[in-house]
Amino acid sequence: MTTIPVKSSITTEKVARYVIEKIHPDTEIELGLRLQTLKLPQYGMISSSDVGNFLSTLVLTANTKKAIEVGTFTGYTALKIASALPSGGKLICCDISQEWAAIGRPYWEKAGVASKIDLRIAPAMDTMMTLTSEAGSFDFAFIDADKSNYPNYYEACLQLLRPGGLMVLDNMLWDGAVADESVTDETTVTLRNLNSKIKNDTRVNCSLLTVGDGLMLVRKK
Ligand SMILES: C[S@@+](CC[C@H](N)C(=O)[O-])C[C@H]1O[C@@H](n2cnc3c(N)ncnc32)[C@H](O)[C@@H]1O
Repeated sequence: MTTIPVKSSITTEKVARYVIEKIHPDTEIELGLRLQTLKLPQYGMISSSDVGNFLSTLVLTANTKKAIEVGTFTGYTALKIASALPSGGKLICCDISQEWAAIGRPYWEKAGVASKIDLRIAPAMDTMMTLTSEAGSFDFAFIDADKSNYPNYYEACLQLLRPGGLMVLDNMLWDGAVADESVTDETTVTLRNLNSKIKNDTRVNCSLLTVGDGLMLVRKK
């Protein structure tokens, strides 16, 4: 049996493994997609099952009918989000790689959620520019793409969300680097500054969670 690698920079490997194996294991279809993804050199980009489960729970909690994902990779988190949408619900997925997203499609189909997913292959900011007429109509947004654009994705998703809508930004602890002021590389500084900006943003409520690599949960007022 393949041992699924766990990301345990924020917690211990033992605790991380308990959570993903005993409490939030992947379904058979999700596991199929994860094992397929593990064959890629970039497999580390796939979210862990506890993160996936948290996204599904939030999508249900926010009574989500319309969602957007920025950064789809092989489609694991898209599968988790789309599975929690009601029939007729819609998830717009933004990615620049047709090849990676194509790996996920058969699993979306097997899970019966492919018709809810609208995959847009283009730089995510370009895709979001095409959605300005739909501002204020999205219930949920998940950001998990190129870190240098996170500040732009935050602003664009905030415009798309309805009041009370939820946004989640992944990797906001950046392996713990944001907490170490002596680390000043561009990505760490971008994410550290964005955490501060969100914390002080009067347009939102927020909570930075030590789940996975740090999930910033944002609620638009
Ligand atoms: C961390 S992976 C997403 C993982 C996925 N959410 C999951 O957990 O399975 C980041 C993705 O962002 C995509 N990406 C990078 N730059 C992008 C851009 N400018 N616009 C859209 N997607 C981009 C990459 O192609 C990659 O698939």
